[in-house]
Amino acid sequence: MLERKSVQDKKFIYGQFFTPIDICNSIVAQIDFQDYLVIEPSFGTGNFIKALKKIKNKKIGIELDNELFSASLCDENTELYNMDFYDFMPKTNKKLLFIGNPPFRTPAYSLTTHKHCINKLTKEYDVLGCREEAVFFILHTIDIFRRNNTTGEIHYIIPTSLLKNNSKYFDRFKKFLKEQCFFKNIISIQGSEFDNVTQDLVYLSLIVKPESTQETSLFALANQEQTTVIIDGKVCNLNEYLCLENNEVIPFQKIFKKTFLGSVPCESLLMSVQGESIHQFKNRLCKIISNNNIDIETLYKLLQYNNKFHLKIFDEPFESELVQKKLQVILSYVKNIQLKPDIISEFENLNNYKPIQVRDGTRFYFRCAKLKKNKNFVYELNPNPCKSFYFTGNPSHSSTDYFGYCEYDCNRNVSPGANRTVPIDGIEDNLTENFKKWWKKNTSEPLSNVFEYLIYISRTQWYKDMKKNNKRFYFAIPKKFIPLELRKI
Ligand SMILES: C[S@@+](CC[C@H](N)C(=O)[O-])C[C@H]1O[C@@H](n2cnc3c(N)ncnc32)[C@H](O)[C@@H]1O
Repeated sequence: MLERKSVQDKKFIYGQFFTPIDICNSIVAQIDFQDYLVIEPSFGTGNFIKALKKIKNKKIGIELDNELFSASLCDENTELYNMDFYDFMPKTNKKLLFIGNPPFRTPAYSLTTHKHCINKLTKEYDVLGCREEAVFFILHTIDIFRRNNTTGEIHYIIPTSLLKNNSKYFDRFKKFLKEQCFFKNIISIQGSEFDNVTQDLVYLSLIVKPESTQETSLFALANQEQTTVIIDGKVCNLNEYLCLENNEVIPFQKIFKKTFLGSVPCESLLMSVQGESIHQFKNRLCKIISNNNIDIETLYKLLQYNNKFHLKIFDEPFESELVQKKLQVILSYVKNIQLKPDIISEFENLNNYKPIQVRDGTRFYFRCAKLKKNKNFVYELNPNPCKSFYFTGNPSHSSTDYFGYCEYDCNRNVSPGANRTVPIDGIEDNLTENFKKWWKKNTSEPLSNVFEYLIYISRTQWYKDMKKNNKRFYFAIPKKFIPLELRKI
């Protein structure tokens, strides 16, 4: 059962952001409903169901939250079910049309309630590595088509970043979408049109390809490689929009064999507070980790030293949504750590508390190789902090990005945050063979100059444009090498 302390928690856990009725009406007005069986898989307050009232097709609506579920929206054409979409598997020979705004949230709530089902879906469709609820919702949607050997359409509002994220896992998801569907239309929606949504959204309409290529009317669709798509009324290159197969760039994963990643919530647990001694920090952290019944309030108290927190976000009131969200994430880390009893004793060992010089003095950062081995612990912290190069991990069109050198694996803002780090010593062994070939073909500069080259790229107009054009841009450099003599900003 969902444990929750406030409405804010529930909104976040269930991914509850409701589509304004005028957007629902305008989407419904654009669709040719033919004789589709129409399914709204997570209808929330029911604006899509209301917008569909005039459509006489048979309709099914599903909503998990029993406090939102309202049977009053039923009519002679509409059946509503208060259930989990992942438990919904109709048997039908009708063509299907899915419409709605699936929950979005990372990590997905379904990973706690329907892990088996999600594992099965991600394995079957080879979309491993993503942890986003909207991705799983789309997988389950397509699975319903496949299990019924039917076709139809999907009309979902989703975060733009789902289609733009150029990490290898999301690339796989986007390729899966291209394999399974024809992209009919994409229309941008400002997140600000929704309450409490800051990220940009799109209305995505897809035609699900037939599995069997024998169906003549859709035969061509199933076989063709789609190259263009209509985005906001204009014909655009689909791969370019999806940031797929960009032969113009070398992504950071193809430069380095191994990088490390910190995280703000992780740091807020494992990093001491300003002024706190190593012993005080060790005692405080041990109190957190040894408390198997720890709840949000206790965690909130124990994250403080001298009424101060490491993270600025905790200057906000305890009840605020931001603070509650962050505490939930930190609590999930604590619970993950507690699953591995052999790690717990490591918190008693002072050698695992590494001093880190920051602007306001020395802090201590708990590091331990066993933490890395705990597969439940999602972050790839460097267990042996060392002189490192840091580069921005997840630049968005508006992010402030950091590139530089640090004594350990923290940048000058203390936070490894969303920064990735690479140990400086032994860099030659950590560069991929292909990258080394590319570098040597283009320059006689030593491989250790790679870091300076990355810093140079980060200051170019090319990098600024890449950030602007991609909502989520995982760091990459242009494939066309820029010789030393031309490197001027
Ligand atoms: C982004 S809101 C959108 C609601 C509605 N479709 C709209 O457009 O206003 C997502 C909805 O999904 C519901 N939800 C979350 N997980 C669900 C699940 N596993 N099965 C069914 N509904 C779910 C949430 O309670 C929430 O109402």
